[in-house]
Amino acid sequence: MSIRLRLAVVFAIAAATVFALGSALFVTTLSSGLLGTVDSELGTELARAGTFAANPAGPGGGGTAVARPLPGEFIVQLVDSAGTVRNASHDAGTAPLLSKSLLDRARTQRIALTVTIDGDPSRVVAAPFAGHAGWIAVASVTLDGYAKTLGDVYRELWAAGAVFVAVAGAGAYVLARAALSPVERLRRAAADLSARDDHVVLEVPATRDEVAALATTMNELLARLHAALARQRTFVADASHELRTPFAVLRAELELAGRPGRTRGELERAIAGAAEETARLNRLTDDLLALARSDDGELTLRRSPTDVGAILRRSAQVAALPAAACGVELRVDAPDGLAPDGLVASVDADRVRQAVDNLVDNAVRHAPRGTEVVLRARSAPAGDGVVVEVADAGPGFPPEFLPHAFERFRRPDTSRARSGGGAGLGLAIVQAIAAAHGGDATARNAPAGGAVVSLVLPAGDRAPAARAARLAPAGP
Ligand SMILES: Nc1ncnc2c1ncn2[C@@H]1O[C@H](COP(=O)(O)OP(=O)(O)OP(=O)(O)O)[C@@H](O)[C@H]1O
Ligand SMILES: [Mg+2]
Repeated sequence: MSIRLRLAVVFAIAAATVFALGSALFVTTLSSGLLGTVDSELGTELARAGTFAANPAGPGGGGTAVARPLPGEFIVQLVDSAGTVRNASHDAGTAPLLSKSLLDRARTQRIALTVTIDGDPSRVVAAPFAGHAGWIAVASVTLDGYAKTLGDVYRELWAAGAVFVAVAGAGAYVLARAALSPVERLRRAAADLSARDDHVVLEVPATRDEVAALATTMNELLARLHAALARQRTFVADASHELRTPFAVLRAELELAGRPGRTRGELERAIAGAAEETARLNRLTDDLLALARSDDGELTLRRSPTDVGAILRRSAQVAALPAAACGVELRVDAPDGLAPDGLVASVDADRVRQAVDNLVDNAVRHAPRGTEVVLRARSAPAGDGVVVEVADAGPGFPPEFLPHAFERFRRPDTSRARSGGGAGLGLAIVQAIAAAHGGDATARNAPAGGAVVSLVLPAGDRAPAARAARLAPAGP
């Protein structure tokens, strides 16, 4: 059922209820007002009870024993203390209009009630008759006029009620349709939006109401979706671009190797070149996969109490050879995990190692010959985490590049031309790994020169030194 129809039905039911309650109140007031008028007229008749002929319906009186009033005719009886009708008006009969118990009540006080006389509802008022102890004057009249008036009122109320409810329901329907039409317009506009067009927005009505607020919120949502879509497109375009070069080199190497008359040395060089490009492709696809997973929040961690210092030492050991080739020395500055103050944190050892390897790779590539790269691990200042730092004595990050250092495929312009430069994903992965641990990564230039990249890793459950023997290995 549409909102319009639901509103109309609810409104009609509410209108019917209110009208019924109002009508009931009106009819009750009208009814008691009408009866009050009848009672006061009957009161006037009571005063005349003594003026009627003595027992006109008595033996020889020619009347009837029971009352036979005409519609609207006032009849009066004067009843003595023994319950005998002494005086009566025409058509009042000789049998008392009231039962003995009611007559007894009327001897002490005035009573007014509705009874059925000769099959018709009638109003009766009875009161002690002054001057005669124990005598009662009784006056009665049929309620035809009263019943007719009430009947007319009921008919009119039914007709008016039906019109009122119909108008209320129809009015609610029209109002709801008018109120919801901007929402419907908004829905149609949203349905017509194209996923391709990055700049379309919904028209915000100038009404400053809920619909305008809804349109504004939807536009904000659209802007966020467009931005996410744009990021995805850039990511895919950059990824394709980065994959193209190694594939082209690989193809060229294989084509060269396939030419007739290659010497063994040339073939070996071609195979080595192809293997290098394949390794680069492998790294790139691994990086892309890691970032895609981190976007989906699926960069799952296998946390275990890990000696963070051991990760640094292993990373330095593996990078020692390429570092030596660049004339750079690697130094680890971290407590031993087996010592009482060892830095043990619940982290994913493989992922932290991947992050440290990325940082060491960067540092070694940028550090000048004869300098050292320091791999440092220490407790976070607040004592609730581990900070890993890799610092070199190179040129540092270009200042304008620092705010973008952790963006994907982001390299300073000078870096693109450099030989040995990667895809620009290393730092983005470091950031994703830190974030997956609930931590953060920051890059800065040391005052004395050189780049410093810090990785804050929440400590998780810090294992005591005694458990260090059971630590997960820091990686291959
Ligand atoms: N220690 C450093 N000193 C100076 N510049 C650095 C340092 N580390 C990174 N950079 C700059 O930041 C850029 C981005 O680094 P990132 O590790 O993200 O990518 P990359 O090393 O170029 O490629 P990838 O890591 O994907 O192989 C680098 O291209 C480099 O210009
Ligand atoms: Mg890198």
